[in-house]
Amino acid sequence: MNTRELIKIEDDYFINTFTRQPVVLDHGEGVRVTDIDGNEYLDMFAGIAVNALGHNHPKLVKAIQNQAEKLIHISSIYYNEPALVYAKKLIDKTGFDRIFYANSGAEANEGAIKLAIKYTGKSEVISAVESFHGRTSMTLAATGHADYQEPFRAILPDGFINVEYNNIEALKEAITQNTAAIIVEPIQGEGGVNIPDIGYLKEIEKICHENNIVFIVDEVQTGFGRCGALFAHELFDVKPDIMTMAKGIGGGVPMGGILATEKVASAFVPGDHGTTFGGGPLVCAAANAVLDVFEDENILENVNEVGEYFIGELKKLDKDIIADVRGKGLMVGVELIKPGAEYVDKLREAGFLINCTADKVLRFVPPLIITKDDIDEFIKALDEIL
Ligand SMILES: Cc1ncc(COP(=O)(O)O)c(C=O)c1O
Repeated sequence: MNTRELIKIEDDYFINTFTRQPVVLDHGEGVRVTDIDGNEYLDMFAGIAVNALGHNHPKLVKAIQNQAEKLIHISSIYYNEPALVYAKKLIDKTGFDRIFYANSGAEANEGAIKLAIKYTGKSEVISAVESFHGRTSMTLAATGHADYQEPFRAILPDGFINVEYNNIEALKEAITQNTAAIIVEPIQGEGGVNIPDIGYLKEIEKICHENNIVFIVDEVQTGFGRCGALFAHELFDVKPDIMTMAKGIGGGVPMGGILATEKVASAFVPGDHGTTFGGGPLVCAAANAVLDVFEDENILENVNEVGEYFIGELKKLDKDIIADVRGKGLMVGVELIKPGAEYVDKLREAGFLINCTADKVLRFVPPLIITKDDIDEFIKALDEIL
């Protein structure tokens, strides 16, 4: 079947939820992906900040293959070695005390909010406008986008308050005796790569400690090296009570997780939360491989070096259409003075996959193994197209 025929299957049969780019991707190698017609693209999007090691990384593929030959799934009723080994490794690295494995970012956030509510016995949650935390009912209520919330207003739980991002006064005003948690992205991704002032998270941490509120950082997009530290909250020198993660941790296999301090985690007892698939041997074998490659191949060093170079090169582009260039590590945004969708199309036609978020922000979240030569190639194309 050709591209048009394949896409028609979605038009005819899928529940209509996505606006997709008109390419059917077939295979990938490193930072390149190829569609079924043989067109190659430089992947500056990495499956929405997921493919940390790019495509077809030999160590990740081998780990998945080896594990698939042993056990793929066993349920949460039995122990499996990859999940246990990974938990210990990650906890040693992050300083949290306890982990819960989920399958996606939304599921991790839903569990984190439940944990905060159980721990405090309170029911209000404060989050930011322009945030993104997921599309389940609690995470949608936390997601500060009225347009996503509006059709489901009737079923959204009460007690979720969205306040302006990077505005401590607005946040303080929203706190009540019944505030259970504040959930925040260290850098907003979907909201347009919005970087808060350096003291913002520190101030939230202080407010949470003073008021016995659970401080949740959503590192679903910023985590796993994306911003140049293993987790982005480290860049702001804070220690949250709970951190959620997903996207990059499995290098492309669907995996999420909650990390928490002992004190907060102890609120959950068997029966409070669960999952059939979470922490399965296949995804955990993948996650172990990703973590090993991070160390063996100095991935964080690459993120910092190439990220800084990339942002520097973008800043050199002297275009009236560019309103701002911002980013940390390899989470980078170019805000335009007009909607960016046409540039996503033009770049794709020229062989580059990117995305536009918050209407005007071209967002680049490439594989963390990208090189300066790849960046040069991309900058040249972006320069011509803008
Ligand atoms: C910060 C953040 N949290 C949560 C989510 C939801 O993750 P998922 O799509 O895996 O449910 C996303 C997805 O983009 C995200 O960027």
